[in-house]
Amino acid sequence: MLAFSCVSLLILLASQATAFTFNVSFGTQNLNATDILPTSLTGLIAPCASTSATCDNVQSELSACQNDAACLCANQLVADLRNCEQCMYETLINASAPLPDPKAGSTPILAGYQAACAAFNITLATTQVALTLPSNWDGPFGLGLNTVGTVFTVGAAFILGMSSLLLLSNL
Ligand SMILES: *[C@@H]1O[C@H](CO)[C@@H](O)[C@H](O)[C@H]1NC(C)=O
Ligand SMILES: *[C@@H]1O[C@H](CO)[C@@H](O)[C@H](O)[C@H]1NC(C)=O
Ligand SMILES: *[C@@H]1O[C@H](CO)[C@@H](O)[C@H](O)[C@H]1NC(C)=O
Ligand SMILES: *[C@@H]1O[C@H](CO)[C@@H](O)[C@H](O)[C@H]1NC(C)=O
Repeated sequence: MLAFSCVSLLILLASQATAFTFNVSFGTQNLNATDILPTSLTGLIAPCASTSATCDNVQSELSACQNDAACLCANQLVADLRNCEQCMYETLINASAPLPDPKAGSTPILAGYQAACAAFNITLATTQVALTLPSNWDGPFGLGLNTVGTVFTVGAAFILGMSSLLLLSNL
């Protein structure tokens, strides 16, 4: 009887601790951790799947965490995720290419990820989730933002707004 109550209490406590699922708010969507990367890394960003940035590894790490916030917000995973996004971001800027997927090289995804960890009382420093401009970036800011603008499609107007703002605040 006592054991039974203890189990019930544990279940009660557990269900309170996980009143909501880890999810990343992205535009109007709430994405599961496993859905934050583009479904397929093809074309220009294909090398990001397997080179030093290893987006494929990040996808496995995200799945392995099974929605556990402490696991998802661990420094190593966050660093790997950032590297993966940074790879896509640099690749697209290098090529001045249109965004193949709004989740590729995305500052909003990373900002959403930071907020999702914060909802579980796990603080990620902004530097842990900030993307940096490629080192060969040489344009003045105005021109620079124009060039970046060509990276983002009109269809991703929301993302463009967010990214430009975040980019500006980083400059
Ligand atoms: C998503 O996370 C937010 C906190 O960031 C939370 O309020 C919301 O309930 C979560 N949604 C689901 C479906 O768990
Ligand atoms: C997220 O995962 C939960 C549980 O695994 C599932 O019920 C839900 O439909 C998923 N949401 C999305 C947007 O895929
Ligand atoms: C972008 O271009 C710079 C200079 O050419 C290069 O060092 C960097 O590795 C490139 N980044 C990617 C992701 O291709
Ligand atoms: C986060 O901390 C606040 C205040 O300390 C607390 O009310 C809340 O339950 C905590 N949330 C989680 C998911 O631990």
